[in-house]
Amino acid sequence: MSQTSIPGYTYGTPQVAPSPVTDADFALLKQTVLLGDEDLRYLRLAGEVLGDQIEAILDVWYGFVGANAHLVHYFSGADGRPDPQYLGRVRQRFGQWIRDTCGAQYDRAWLDYQHEIGLRHTAAKKNRTDGVASAAPQIHLRYLIAFIVPITATIKPFLAKKGHAAADVEGMHAAWFKAVTLQVTLWSEPYVATSVF
Ligand code: HEM
Repeated sequence: MSQTSIPGYTYGTPQVAPSPVTDADFALLKQTVLLGDEDLRYLRLAGEVLGDQIEAILDVWYGFVGANAHLVHYFSGADGRPDPQYLGRVRQRFGQWIRDTCGAQYDRAWLDYQHEIGLRHTAAKKNRTDGVASAAPQIHLRYLIAFIVPITATIKPFLAKKGHAAADVEGMHAAWFKAVTLQVTLWSEPYVATSVF
């Protein structure tokens, strides 16, 4: 987390409810996605590499969403058409998320904000942060999971852009994949019954 004035970004604030995920369960989840100390080093390196490329990355991701009617639908306003203001507000938090993903401390504040991001994709909290009257009350879980692929595939050219050795680019890419999978897994929690999470 870093100090920002991004509208709706509440990481580390008392507005964020506690994550129900226990430390023990979180440790096992990290173990399951094979996230270790080497990955943390590679994530930090990725943060350095991606730091000045955030807008270009967001252009690619927003281009992908915008080119797919079934995805951009989730950014629609009351009239069912894409809401540029909603897209713009989320874009700022998405950029911060790239930084947070690379700098993650995996502490309680981080876990709590994962719970919050998950909720913001569900009917419980979607549209509230930006006060939009969207035609889409929730984002279907299947697309959260499937989106791991484009979010991971498209980051690689950006990781390779600063001239790092191929092995280091691979290391950063693997760490990114694990980190994103870990997060989307945590975000699935508010979608499902506690007993099956
Ligand atoms: C919000 C990332 C999947 C649509 C967000 C935010 C992030 C994010 C970082 C802002 C969180 C915050 O408020 O601080 C991701 C990642 C995904 C994913 C990494 C999968 C790997 C999707 C999919 C859609 C989507 C598939 C559908 C097109 C949205 C929308 C919001 C949002 C509409 C705003 C929700 C609100 O009203 O607060 N996402 N997302 N996301 N995302 Fe996703």
